[in-house]
Amino acid sequence: MAWLWFVLLCSSLCASPVLGVVGGDPAAPPEPDAAVVFTQRHGNSARIQGFKDDARGYYTFNGIRYAEPPIGALRFQRPVRRYLAGEINATSNCLPCPQLDPKGSGGIIGSEDCLCLNIFAPKMPGDEEGCPVIFFIHGGNFKSGSIAPYGGQHFTKQDTILVTAQYRLGSLGFLSTGNRDASGNTGLFDLRAAMTWINDYIEFFGGDRSRLVVMGQGSGGRAASLMGLSKETPREGRDATGVAALSGAPLSPGVVNSDPNKHAADKDITLDMPDTQAFLEEISGRAGPRARVEGEHDSRSLPPFVSEEPSDSLKKKHQLGPMLTGVTSAETARAVFGKYAKFLSEQLGAVKDFIKKDVIGGLKTTVQEIQALNPLKNSGLQNVIPLPDYYQAVFDSTLKAIDGLAEIAEATGDALFNFPAYQSVKEWSAGASALMYSFEHVGNLSKGYHFVPGIALTRRK
Ligand SMILES: *[C@@H]1O[C@H](CO)[C@@H](O)[C@H](O)[C@H]1NC(C)=O
Ligand SMILES: *[C@@H]1O[C@H](CO)[C@@H](O)[C@H](O)[C@H]1NC(C)=O
Repeated sequence: MAWLWFVLLCSSLCASPVLGVVGGDPAAPPEPDAAVVFTQRHGNSARIQGFKDDARGYYTFNGIRYAEPPIGALRFQRPVRRYLAGEINATSNCLPCPQLDPKGSGGIIGSEDCLCLNIFAPKMPGDEEGCPVIFFIHGGNFKSGSIAPYGGQHFTKQDTILVTAQYRLGSLGFLSTGNRDASGNTGLFDLRAAMTWINDYIEFFGGDRSRLVVMGQGSGGRAASLMGLSKETPREGRDATGVAALSGAPLSPGVVNSDPNKHAADKDITLDMPDTQAFLEEISGRAGPRARVEGEHDSRSLPPFVSEEPSDSLKKKHQLGPMLTGVTSAETARAVFGKYAKFLSEQLGAVKDFIKKDVIGGLKTTVQEIQALNPLKNSGLQNVIPLPDYYQAVFDSTLKAIDGLAEIAEATGDALFNFPAYQSVKEWSAGASALMYSFEHVGNLSKGYHFVPGIALTRRK
C-alpha cells in the first residue's frame, strides 16, 4: 500500500493552495487545477474540497457521507440519505464500518459512522462530455473490508471516474429478525443509497450517469449482481448500465440466504476446531452474514432489495443490462494454502479418502441447494440420476490426487467459483449480454496475503 501513502503524502505536500470561498449563488467554475466541486441539488448548494495528486494528475474526494450515521434509532434500519450542503472537507477517509480487527487482536475496529464514499476523478468538469463511472463495492464476505485500500489511478488513466462506498457489515448490515426491528439487507440498502447519491451528484464531478457500471469483488461482486437484477420500475438505486461481478457471480453459493433462521446461529469457525464442512462454508461465502430473500415487501410495504432468488430473477429475465463476471485461476488457494493448510494437511494424512469423502462429499452438499447449479433438482429425477455431469467430472478428476492441497484448491475453486460463474453467464445471457474472463496471474499465493483472494485492482505491499 506504499503507493497510497505516496498519494496522500504527495497530495498534501504538492497540492496547490485553493483560493477563494464562494457565496450562496451558483458559483463560477473553480480554477482548473483546484480540487473543488460545487453542487446544487435538493435545494442545497455545497462546496466540496478534495485534493489533487499532481504526480498522477487525478482528483480525490474522500470521506463524503452519503447517509446519516446509522446509530441510535437508525441502527438496523434502512439508511437515511444525507444531501450535500455547505462546506465539505473531503480530504480524509472515514473509519471502516465496525468489524473484527484484521490483525487478529480479537477486538473490534471501525466506527458506526462509516457510510462514506470516495471519488477519484480524472479531471474536473468542463465543457466536454462526462466520463464513464465505475461504482466499486469492496469484498470481505459482508463482515470485513473498507474502501481505504482502493485508489483511482488505474481507472482515471482510462478517463473513468471511480467511486467506492462503505456499507454496514456483519450483523449491523445483515441481521434479520424478519420484522421491522431488523428487516435485513440494510448493508445492501446502504449501497443502493450510495448509488442514488451517484446518480444525483456525479455530473458535478465530471461523470456521465448514463454510463455507470456497478462493480464488486467477492461478496461485493455478489452485491453488484443483486443490484443488476430487478423488476422494479422506476429503478431507484439500480441505475447501473452494466454489472461487473469479479469472483462473485449471481449464482455463487453465498449470494442469498433463503432461510435466514437456519443460519442465524452461524459464527466464525475457530481455528482450534475447524471441520471440513465449516471450511467449505467459509470459502464459499455461505458462512456468516449475507443477503436474505425478502419477498415482495417487508412488513411496512417498503419495496424489497432482493425479492427472490437470483436464479428465479434470471429465469424471468430481470437482468437490467450487460454483465461481466469471471474468476481468478485459483480462487480458494489462499485459504487452502494459508489459513487452512495445517488443518487440511493433517486431515489428508489422518483420514482415509479425505478428498473423495469429506471434501467432495461436502462440496456436493454445499452446492446442492443452489437450484441453478443443479438442473435436476426440481425435475423429480434427483434420486435417480446423480449430480450433473460437470460436477461428476470435476469430482472424478480430483481423485487422481498428486498433491492433496493443490487438488483441494482445484476442486473447491471449480465447484464454488468456476462453475457458478460459467452457469451465471449462461443464464444471464438469455436476457442481456454477458461476458466471462479468467484472470490467470498467479502471485505468491502460498504466503497468504492479507487480502481478499482474486483481487486484481489493488497492489500488494
Ligand atoms: C480538512 O481536514 C483535514 C484533515 O482532517 C485538515 O487537516 C484540514 O485542515 C481541513 N481543512 C479545512 C479547510 O478545514
Ligand atoms: C514472490 O516473492 C518473491 C520474493 O518476495 C519475488 O522475488 C517473486 O518475484 C514473487 N513471485 C511472484 C510470482 O510474484
